[in-house]
Amino acid sequence: MTLTVKSVARVSLVSTLVLAAAGAALLSASPASGAASTLAAAAQQSGRYFGTAVAANKLGDSTYTGILNREFDMVTAENEMKMDATEPNQGQFSYGNADRIVNQARNQGKRVRGHALAWHSQQPGWMQNMSGTALRNAMLNHVTQVATYYRGKIYAWDVVNEAFADGSSGGRRDSNLQRTGNDWIEAAFRAARAADPGAKLCYNDYNTDNWSHAKTQGVYRMVQDFKSRGVPIDCVGFQAHFNSGNPVPSNYHTTLQNFAALGVDVQITELDIEGSGSSQAQQYQGVTQACLAVARCTGITVWGIRDTDSWRASGTPLLFDGNGNKKAAYTSVLNVLNDGTGGTTPPTSTTTTTSNPGGGGCTATYSEGEKWSDRFNGQVTVSGSDNWIVTVTVSSPQRIIATWNTSASWESANVMTARPNGSGNSFGFTISHGGNWNWPSVSCRVA
Ligand code: XIL
Repeated sequence: MTLTVKSVARVSLVSTLVLAAAGAALLSASPASGAASTLAAAAQQSGRYFGTAVAANKLGDSTYTGILNREFDMVTAENEMKMDATEPNQGQFSYGNADRIVNQARNQGKRVRGHALAWHSQQPGWMQNMSGTALRNAMLNHVTQVATYYRGKIYAWDVVNEAFADGSSGGRRDSNLQRTGNDWIEAAFRAARAADPGAKLCYNDYNTDNWSHAKTQGVYRMVQDFKSRGVPIDCVGFQAHFNSGNPVPSNYHTTLQNFAALGVDVQITELDIEGSGSSQAQQYQGVTQACLAVARCTGITVWGIRDTDSWRASGTPLLFDGNGNKKAAYTSVLNVLNDGTGGTTPPTSTTTTTSNPGGGGCTATYSEGEKWSDRFNGQVTVSGSDNWIVTVTVSSPQRIIATWNTSASWESANVMTARPNGSGNSFGFTISHGGNWNWPSVSCRVA
């Protein structure tokens, strides 16, 4: 049985009032609801993990460590396992801060995502100046040394990070590593597999969330190629750094599903969403639902604990405020992990909205249809005319992805014009909601 948060709240209110009389029965009712009270426990119900980035220099902060230990079961070193940290001088490896994070996590029964073995950014100075065969060999030696040192302790390695170009090319990013030859990525994956056969090997990138973007397609083709040629790759990481200029795409679920269909796990690896309040909460809800809707989406990691810990602190993009209090976004993520809905699903009912009763010569009535984690159906019934034009307007990031019993055209991505197609005066559609469950607005006029 699952209870929504609203009903859990009601139970605990009642239990306070009648505690003295019937406390035992009511107290046992609350945990029996099946709703887990931490992100990790809630994610574990579907076999997933919920992780965070951790900075070694914050492990002495008891508020920080308290939330870390309570809420998360996967840890990524925010900077401490990067190339500049682990090999500051060529051939001299330095694991002090990385070990602090790995040991703290493992002592608490948490797993570790390794981040990252090869990347154009945060390279040590000596590597930035290298090229050609010397750089290729130095990169491969780095991958081998670090993955061997941590063999058996890493759930998944980001073997290669951010190797594709932004924009419309769909090709590789220029970098010193890329200039060693296009096969540098597969060479890194083969070296990582040899060094730690037990770790999942991931390709990790950003701006790969929208299925229609060239960069997403470029990474998809690489993974498809690797799978077809037997290059060892087990997972694709989606960084998922979102803000108003780069919002959660409405086709996020499609992206995750299509990658998973290649035979790799998918993971959301560095999630943060700038914003606040219910709009931020809804976007977190949509991302969490998109992962839950894909069987091979094995977990979500947020890129820090409190807003003040974030690399983009001014955007307040995380689940806890600067004082360590849970934000609305936290609650929506927890609710989705517990019952799939985020607690904000519109009620299942025959409730309808009507528009233009008579005003345009006809009346359009919207009624709710079936709902899924990533989409919902709606139906519009027209009265007053058989010769109608109905406008259906959805709100961002919603998109209408299917229609039936109507002839549809689009005024813009958000606004659909529906006309009769000989199927009568009732038509339907599917809205991909991206976490926004609001009903569309409808209006009717006679043609
Ligand atoms: C960021 C860290 O959060 C910052 O502390 C650091 O200054 C720069 O790197 N993509 C990645 C992460 O893969 O490693 C980056 O982390 C954020 C973008």
